[in-house]
Formats: sequence, structure tokens, C-alpha cells
Amino acid sequence: MTNKTAVVTGGASGIGRRTVERLIAHDWTVWSLDVCEHAPDQHASLQTSQNRLRHLQCDVADVESVRSAFDAVRRQTAKLDALICSAGVIRVGALEEHTPEDVDLLLGVNVKGPWLTVREALPLLRERSSVVHPARVVMVGSCAGIRPKPGSGFYAATKAALHLLTGVLAVELGPSGVVVNAVAPGTVATPMLNGAAKTDVTSLYKPTGVSPLGRIAEPDDIADVILFFLSDAARYVNGTVLPVDGGTRAAFYPGNTAMQPVADASLDGTPQ
Ligand SMILES: NC(=O)c1ccc[n+]([C@@H]2O[C@H](COP(=O)([O-])OP(=O)(O)OC[C@H]3O[C@@H](n4cnc5c(N)ncnc54)[C@H](O)[C@@H]3O)[C@@H](O)[C@H]2O)c1
Repeated sequence: MTNKTAVVTGGASGIGRRTVERLIAHDWTVWSLDVCEHAPDQHASLQTSQNRLRHLQCDVADVESVRSAFDAVRRQTAKLDALICSAGVIRVGALEEHTPEDVDLLLGVNVKGPWLTVREALPLLRERSSVVHPARVVMVGSCAGIRPKPGSGFYAATKAALHLLTGVLAVELGPSGVVVNAVAPGTVATPMLNGAAKTDVTSLYKPTGVSPLGRIAEPDDIADVILFFLSDAARYVNGTVLPVDGGTRAAFYPGNTAMQPVADASLDGTPQ
């Protein structure tokens, strides 16, 4: 797991940021691509590792932006061991409340973005790959894309599309030694969740309640599974969508009242 190079989209916040931090801690060199111009450099472990963290401002939904980010990557490295696509946006609300602009944004960032990013990364990933030691792509999907809930609207549809894209890419790229998998988190304590929780007044959207494990996920819970997909142990895992939800999906069935929505207050500041 050392002396390797990864690109992480959405690396400035939440799950992507934690993945960047974990990879740097394992001696990876990481390119963080994010629409946010600021590098995820506040964390103590990163302050001593800046030479292994390169942050580029990039809109993953924009062809030229992704191309120019990868031009910069290519100028400094001839190969990539892994690509993690964590950049994402959510717009909650019933489908009839969505605007065409909402739909364009969701499709652009959550579906077209990973495709554009994989397309640009492929030559670098293939440079690194072999059938025995494949290069890795990990998509950050969502349990909403497996089992939608009221108010998850078009976001759920984009994540279902991303899960299918994962399978298609796995089949197409496997022969050239690139394996593609997805994590499908349940509710995770990140800025995205706090933002979504505040907009539930008209949308029917409720953040999923605590899992059977008694808490919602922390970014670390997801980053650990992403690191598993990057590890040698996962070299033969390809085309999977792995739910990382503490058992939430298993616990939901009609009439089960044990799973209560998280109170908004608990999501504001210090998520439980
Ligand atoms: N938080 C949850 O409960 C949850 C649950 C399931 C899945 N997810 C997924 O996890 C991923 C990470 O989300 P998070 O919870 O860490 O949210 P987050 O908001 O903390 O991080 C998302 C990051 O993506 C970046 N981003 C947004 N649009 C972009 C664009 N056009 N180009 C480049 N970067 C862009 C943001 O600037 C931000 O840094 C997303 O794909 C999200 O859909 C989150």
C-alpha cells in the first residue's frame, strides 16, 4: 500500500477528504481534484505531508476542466494506481419539485463526472495495471441508489446510474487490468448530510435514522472500505457495489418502527 499514486475527486470535504488523509498516511501521493479551490490541508497529518498532496481546482462535470486537471497530473506522473470518484452533490425533494437545473447538476456531477474522470485517468491507470496486479477505480455511490426513500429524488436515480456504470466499466476494463467497484454508503456525517437535513421542510426527505449499530457512519467508516478496495486483498474483486450502511437496508421493512429518523438537531454540528 505504499509509494503509490491516486487521484481522489471531491477530495476537499467529507468522505473524499478522509480518503485523501488516509492514503497520505499510508505514504501514497494523492491528487485531490475538487471544485473547491482549497486543499484539504487543515488536518495535522497532512501538514507534514504536503509534498505528497497536490490539490487542483476542477469541476468534474466539465470536460475542459477535467482534461486540464489530468494534463497537470500527466506532467508529473506517468502512472496512476487508483482513482477514487467521491465528488457528488445532492438536491433533495420530490421529483415534481426538481427544476431542470437541479437535474442537469445531479446528472453532470454524479454520473457524467465519474465517466469523464475515468476516461481521462485510463491511460495512466493502464500504464500501471496488469491482470495480476490490477489498477483500481472506486466509485462512491449510495444506498439511495439501491433503495430510494421519499425525497431522495433524482439523486437516487443518479446513484443507481453510477452503480450500473460501475458494472459496465468493470466488464469493459477488466481485460486491461483495471478493476472497478463502488461503495454505497448509508447516512454519513459530512457537510453534505448537514446541508440536506436543513432542506427537508417541503421535500419529504428525512436523513435515514441511526443504523442497527446505533450510530450513523463517520467518513472513516467509508474510507476504510475504499482502502480495502485498493488493497492487494481486493485484487480479484470487480464490478461490486458494496453497501456500507451498518445494516440499515437490512433493518428497513414495512411496519418496522424501530428505525427513527435522526433529529435535525443531532445533525447540526456534532452528528451522532
Ligand atoms: N454523506 C452521506 O450521507 C452520503 C451517503 C451516501 C453517499 N454519499 C456520497 O459520498 C460522496 C461524498 O459526499 P460527502 O458526504 O463526503 O459530501 P461533501 O459535500 O462533504 O463532499 C463532496 C465534495 O465534492 C465536491 N464537489 C461537488 N461538486 C463538484 C464538482 N462539480 N467537481 C468537483 N468536486 C465537486 C465538493 O466541493 C465536496 O468537496 C458523494 O458522492 C455523495 O453522494 C454521501
